[in-house]
Amino acid sequence: MSQPCPVLRGTSVFLAAHVIENLASIHAWYNDNEIQRLSGGIGSPISLEASSKRLERWMNPPDDQRHFAIHRCVDSRLVGFLHLAEIDPVDRVCKIGIVIGERACWGQGCGSEAIRLACEYAFRELALFRVSAEAFADNPRSYRMLTRAGLVQEGMQRAAVVRDEGRVDVYMFGLLRTDWGESGA
Ligand SMILES: CC(C)(COP(=O)(O)OP(=O)(O)OC[C@H]1O[C@@H](n2cnc3c(N)ncnc32)[C@H](O)[C@@H]1OP(=O)(O)O)[C@@H](O)C(=O)NCCC(=O)NCCS
Repeated sequence: MSQPCPVLRGTSVFLAAHVIENLASIHAWYNDNEIQRLSGGIGSPISLEASSKRLERWMNPPDDQRHFAIHRCVDSRLVGFLHLAEIDPVDRVCKIGIVIGERACWGQGCGSEAIRLACEYAFRELALFRVSAEAFADNPRSYRMLTRAGLVQEGMQRAAVVRDEGRVDVYMFGLLRTDWGESGA
């Protein structure tokens, strides 16, 4: 059975469970070449049926994943999505991924607040010890967003992904529950 997906409220955005009405936006964002390149997607168009299946999986995820829709507080508009993946109950770690699909919202703090809300959920509700994330070297906005959200750059994989222009590095980020101010237990 799927895990419950609570509403996580911030000042600019709130995170909530996905609903089927999110399909059109998610499908558009998965077919946006720039968003796909920046977030490490496959880069080729996907069908509405494939997007629909993806959204259904997000609405009924396996135990090692949590998927959230990101909404703007001011008008509840859907602006992006976020997931916690590879949730490991033994090591108590997970990986975080995010897309703010509405470009008009970029640079307004929506991404970093969504990341902070998701980290708080990971530490307080899931009792995880560590959250990891990655930023491609050709995506400085993503690097800044993770830093602003409090994650720390821990390392870098040289020439780890390929682009039309050549290979680029991938920065590895992490945040521990002790960095967050939670107990180390
Ligand atoms: C990466 C992404 C999630 C960031 O979301 P966002 O809402 O724009 O993030 P924030 O506004 O919280 O933070 C963005 C930071 O980048 C800075 N920034 C904005 N434009 C920038 C640019 N062109 N170059 C460098 N930094 C930039 C902002 O000033 C801000 O940093 P600051 O707070 O230190 O000033 C969003 O741009 C996105 O979805 N992009 C496409 C998909 C993607 O890249 N996903 C990978 C995420 S790991």
